[in-house]
Amino acid sequence: MTVCEYRAGLEGIPATQSSISFVDGQRGLLEYRGISVEELAEKSTFLETSYLLIWGELPKKEELELFEYEICHHRRLKYRIRDMMKCFPEGGHPMDALQACAAALGLFYSRRALDDPAYIRAAVVRLLAKIPTMVAAFQLMRKGNDPIQPRDDLDYSANFLYMLTETEPDPFAAHVFDVCLTLHAEHTINASTFSALVTASTLTDPYAVVASAVGTLAGPLHGGANEEVITMLEDEIGTIENVRPYVEHCIEKKAKIMGFGHRVYKVKDPRATILQQLAEQLFEKYGEDQFYDIAVELERVVQEKLGHKGIYANVDFYSGLVYRKLGIPTDLFTPVFAISRTAGWLAHWKEQLGENRIFRPTQIYTGTHGNPYIPMEKR
Ligand code: CMC
Repeated sequence: MTVCEYRAGLEGIPATQSSISFVDGQRGLLEYRGISVEELAEKSTFLETSYLLIWGELPKKEELELFEYEICHHRRLKYRIRDMMKCFPEGGHPMDALQACAAALGLFYSRRALDDPAYIRAAVVRLLAKIPTMVAAFQLMRKGNDPIQPRDDLDYSANFLYMLTETEPDPFAAHVFDVCLTLHAEHTINASTFSALVTASTLTDPYAVVASAVGTLAGPLHGGANEEVITMLEDEIGTIENVRPYVEHCIEKKAKIMGFGHRVYKVKDPRATILQQLAEQLFEKYGEDQFYDIAVELERVVQEKLGHKGIYANVDFYSGLVYRKLGIPTDLFTPVFAISRTAGWLAHWKEQLGENRIFRPTQIYTGTHGNPYIPMEKR
């Protein structure tokens, strides 16, 4: 066995073998099952892309229709899950609510048959179908309203926006949202996917796998960054004139500028490029966002000051501006990321089950040895 040196954050250390997605951080390339994310964003839908990620091939027409039908018919939540959600504090973060709800699915669907393809498919369908309903339900409930039921005549993305805003979305808005989901669906072994893999490797149920990944995605260094970007643009920067001093201050204080930098990408994240284009299309159709010009200037100044260190805009930088225009509240940006990334987590869960070995890494012990037990009165 080759013993590697310790690398903080496991930087550059392969944690698994996978054929699901590929990133070239120097050239800014991302592929799902060998297909570029740009092509999928243009030609596919989120559900078709999810099928591709999970089962490894693009579905035939009838396979996709069946998958869409199954998801459409599993969108509703059991009333006991809705009752459970009614007890959640309205001030709680929606990611915490989502994590609790995802874990609760394991209570209601407790049969575990990890070697049965029908069980795997049912779990995939259930999670992809119900997570958007949970996110939308929490949003309405925390405002004191009953959640509204999904509509079978609306596709995945239009239905989510409908359940969230109680208004049928414009088809262009629903299309943009669907592209956002496609862009966020998968990204190799990031922190939440690693978390999903570790949990999956114990052969627990898929609801626990997704719940652990949701908890990991919530942090500000991972999925939570999209929310922080808006807070930064609105509250900490506020005007174009403040951009340069803000960046200089962050550099001096060694503070992270949210929405920039990536462990793998050393150029602009390809998803950020597409999201910026989507933001511009939305502003053209539905009106400007006053913070877009600040964002563009911020990207310019960060590139000027930190580009030499390979720090460029990541996926979280422009996504918040897109979501805002679609009427999604800021603290739902990360839950929306989770809706999408559920596809990637499930693809990795299924792949892990195919050749499972429990994760049990080692450590480098930095403590002392042979210490005496000191009685309480002598400490
Ligand atoms: N702003 C300013 N400096 C930065 C930033 C940033 N956003 N990101 C990295 N750096 C600097 C960092 O200070 C360090 O400098 P030095 O070598 O002089 O000490 C160097 O770049 C390496 O940074 P690191 O923190 O060791 O890099 P990492 O690979 O461990 O972290 C990261 C990657 C994404 C956590 C980090 O870039 C970061 O915290 N970015 C801000 C939060 C963010 O936008 N997260 C979203 C990530 S992409 C989507 C996702 O995962 O959900």
